[in-house]
Amino acid sequence: MSASTETWGAPPAEWTRSHLLGLETLSKEEITLLLDTAERFRTEILEDPRGTGRKIPLLAGRTIVNLFFENSTRTKTSFGLAGRRLGADVVEFAAATSSLSKGETIIDTAQNILAMGVDGVVIRHSCPGTPHILSKRLEHCSVLNAGDGTHEHPTQALLDILTIRRRFGRIEGLTVALVGDIAHSRTARSDIYGLKKLGAKVIVCGPSTLVSQGWRELGVEYSYSLDAILPRVDVFNLLRIQFERQVVRPFPSIREYALLYAMNAQRLAACKKDVLIIAPGPINRGVEITPEVADGPQSAILDQVTNGVAVRMAALWLTLTAGQKNSK
Ligand code: NCD
Repeated sequence: MSASTETWGAPPAEWTRSHLLGLETLSKEEITLLLDTAERFRTEILEDPRGTGRKIPLLAGRTIVNLFFENSTRTKTSFGLAGRRLGADVVEFAAATSSLSKGETIIDTAQNILAMGVDGVVIRHSCPGTPHILSKRLEHCSVLNAGDGTHEHPTQALLDILTIRRRFGRIEGLTVALVGDIAHSRTARSDIYGLKKLGAKVIVCGPSTLVSQGWRELGVEYSYSLDAILPRVDVFNLLRIQFERQVVRPFPSIREYALLYAMNAQRLAACKKDVLIIAPGPINRGVEITPEVADGPQSAILDQVTNGVAVRMAALWLTLTAGQKNSK
């Protein structure tokens, strides 16, 4: 029997949050609930063998606005798809052509959008904390963080963790290395919170200019040498060098970075046989990863994108239905 709103069941009572702002404040149980719900959406809806539209209208009649103030391909598209797969109406807001360019504040913009009857706002903004401020100001509306500056990117970390869990069947006891531009990565921070809560060991690896000592407070191991850690890592998450966020160039040249930190065929040969290679995307071929590794059998980069839709379906369903419970 394929899933329908009747057979799917009610949202789990244990989930009570109407916003998803980051993984720092979520418990291990809450993260596991999100992952388990995403797993169900992936296997029962996205992989429905009968291909019945791959939809389940659990959020029919609800409206979600995608408020993206920074560029995005994967996150914006997959939040949009996730909302539509759940039967919601999804409105795409174009920040560049909005009244923000006429001097309106983000709170006023959001309140005006809400006055049109919106149930959920998915927001990406370059200023850390913007989703948190909105969540305090907007009543009866769920706020989901799709990346706030260099702070957090919870759904990216959830899809990374789901991809790892699907491959290894567990997170506990695995060693996961985050390689590259740790300093500017919101994905790294959310990954660390999530992975550590679920019992993984995390190593941050990159040039010292991109891996500051402050990250030690998050309980991670450090390495400035990728070659030194290759044989003992189960999962490599290869982060993009985020030139757009850097004020000064943190290393002499891209060529030198690639020589020391690119995951290439030679380095892959020194890894564990079942090593998993992931990357949040967009990838820069030849910088943090070479094409033969990105397209090779150890890479789960496209699988991550599929998991991204499932994770966002879970996040939207849980938060928007919790929002309804709370507002009653
Ligand atoms: C990441 C982001 O925007 O923070 N990408 C993404 O969401 N798919 C990482 C990046 O841009 O490198």
